[in-house]
Amino acid sequence: MTISKQFEFIGNSIINGWSRPNPINIYPEKSCGIFAEGIEMTYQSGKERFVALKGIDLQISKGVIQLLMGPSGSGKTTLLSILAGILTPTNGKVHLLGKEITKMSRKQLSRFRRDHIGFIFQGFNLFPALTAAENVELALNIKGIKGKIARQQSLELLSQVGLAAKAQLLPRDLSGGQKQRVAIARALAGNPQIIMADEPTADLDSHNGQAVIELLCQLAKEGGTTVVIVTHDPRIKAFADNITFLEDGEIVPGDP
Ligand SMILES: Nc1ncnc2c1ncn2[C@@H]1O[C@H](COP(=O)(O)OP(=O)(O)OP(=O)(O)O)[C@@H](O)[C@H]1O
Ligand SMILES: [Mg+2]
Repeated sequence: MTISKQFEFIGNSIINGWSRPNPINIYPEKSCGIFAEGIEMTYQSGKERFVALKGIDLQISKGVIQLLMGPSGSGKTTLLSILAGILTPTNGKVHLLGKEITKMSRKQLSRFRRDHIGFIFQGFNLFPALTAAENVELALNIKGIKGKIARQQSLELLSQVGLAAKAQLLPRDLSGGQKQRVAIARALAGNPQIIMADEPTADLDSHNGQAVIELLCQLAKEGGTTVVIVTHDPRIKAFADNITFLEDGEIVPGDP
């Protein structure tokens, strides 16, 4: 069976009724990849308050592929941003690689994120005035990889996501899926121990979507990278070690 046939087969078997309970065992284990406890998030805009997360506990071992799934508005991006230290929760603690990021100063946190986390944003967040290669190169520069080595690595990363031929194009000249792949190459810069991806296959056709997921799996299985993926894509379930479902800001068992 070809890989794409297998993918189709696994995908179909899952779509046809696959769901599993979500066993979450929380111990005070601080040395795992990701440990989050009692995460609450309330957004305030003017007088309006909105409770987006209502007490999330999550433990993710190193080197696993963890999915966060759930309906639109259930709090997936909010949770991922908190796990990555991009947003500060209203309450709760997050430990990454044994360090409590919710205790860190802004400077410590930005250094920690630079050294250990690659984040793929929902939307792409590419710099419009920089070419695909320069977008990736800039991420490498921020991680201390400079000059010729950064230029070489940026091309290697772009070819890993099948975009070597588009390296010199600006984001406006790339398709949505190609922009997404530049964003993925950028998140892989510097070989981070944790990769967080918000809908990484949303703009990709099934061939490129599968290539991206296979690449993330390879990083997890061979490099021990912890990969957290927010997705609506049922085909990704087949590649996951664990799936957590969110609904209305809470973890729910099974597929809501
Ligand atoms: N800055 C903000 N201010 C106020 N409310 C917000 C803010 N950001 C998100 N929300 C609200 O919090 C809830 C969760 O948003 P979030 O973006 O985490 O959802 P999501 O599960 O990622 O949805 P989607 O699948 O559509 O991306 C939504 O109801 C959203 O409107
Ligand atoms: Mg989202």
